[in-house]
Amino acid sequence: ATTLGASAAAKGRYFGTAVAAGHLGESAYASTLDTEFNMVTPENEMKWDAVEGTRNSFGFGPADQIVSHAQGKGMKVRGHTLVWHSQLPGWVGGLGADDLRSAMNNHITKVMDHYKGKIYAWDVVNEAYQDGSSGARRSSPFQDKLGSGFIEEAFRTARAADSGAKLCYNDYNTDGQNAKSNAVYAMVKDFKQRGVPIDCVGFQSHFNSNSPVPGDYQANLQRFADLGVDVQITELDIEGSGSAQAASYTKVVNACLAVSRCAGMTVWGVTDKYSWRSSGTPLLFDGNYGKKPAYTAVLTALGGS
Ligand code: G3I
Repeated sequence: ATTLGASAAAKGRYFGTAVAAGHLGESAYASTLDTEFNMVTPENEMKWDAVEGTRNSFGFGPADQIVSHAQGKGMKVRGHTLVWHSQLPGWVGGLGADDLRSAMNNHITKVMDHYKGKIYAWDVVNEAYQDGSSGARRSSPFQDKLGSGFIEEAFRTARAADSGAKLCYNDYNTDGQNAKSNAVYAMVKDFKQRGVPIDCVGFQSHFNSNSPVPGDYQANLQRFADLGVDVQITELDIEGSGSAQAASYTKVVNACLAVSRCAGMTVWGVTDKYSWRSSGTPLLFDGNYGKKPAYTAVLTALGGS
């Protein structure tokens, strides 16, 4: 096949990208998206501050724009993200425990209900663990006021809201085996043993020179898959350029293809022009939508040409 999406599909995988609603009107952006990808993740439009800036008052305009664009082009959608400490409107942090619990469950239920039947997988909880060697939970209104059970509660609420969507836990710096990924692993293992609904784990895979593709990336994906969940590469980008960047992308694709429960890969943006990384060139298309060596490397690794 000649595109990322079709080549991935031939391997039983998807190939996705983060999308910003504000760029869909740019013809080169939309045509690159529509040609190359078969999964989209709204980059910011489904986050709590974007959809429920005021308590129990929901607005889905920009997110709906992305979902209908995707559906019109036969692309699937990853929902990102329901419960996260960041991009949280101020009112959430001001609630007491009982109110926060009902606000969290209401948020999950209303957002998932709005998109019922349209979402392949939801990032139900995002980035709940600290970096570093502690393996501890990160401070957030949810952790601090509801305690460690908030993740389990969020997943149970999510399953009740839309039983057709896969439910993922998503994090960064969990791509190799380390204290943080060990803590997530222990949580997933516990959830599977106790029947807490979880279907997938997302590995964001934001790589740079300080945090390159780990040597045990594939082994780490495999150990999670062996717990009985899908694994997904959810926010892939790799700082750098040229053949070094291309080689790193090849490692990531090969790791996913080697793990049968690796369902697919998503890059965190269509073009370097709009990457969240203010400096750097971490994506597959350059600022003029030209295909970079990294693009060719990914296409080749997927068996396309
Ligand atoms: O939309 C407002 C605009 O109205 C305002 O004028 C402008 C001024 O700052 O800000 C705009 O919002 C920005 C938003 O992106 C949309 O462009 C925010 O400031 C900015 O903080 C926000 O950044 C996003 C970031 O998450 C926030 O945490 C990035 O686009 C997005 O790529 C990034 O994505 C995260 C994933 O969700 C989770 N994993 C890490 C990843 C990278 O940080």
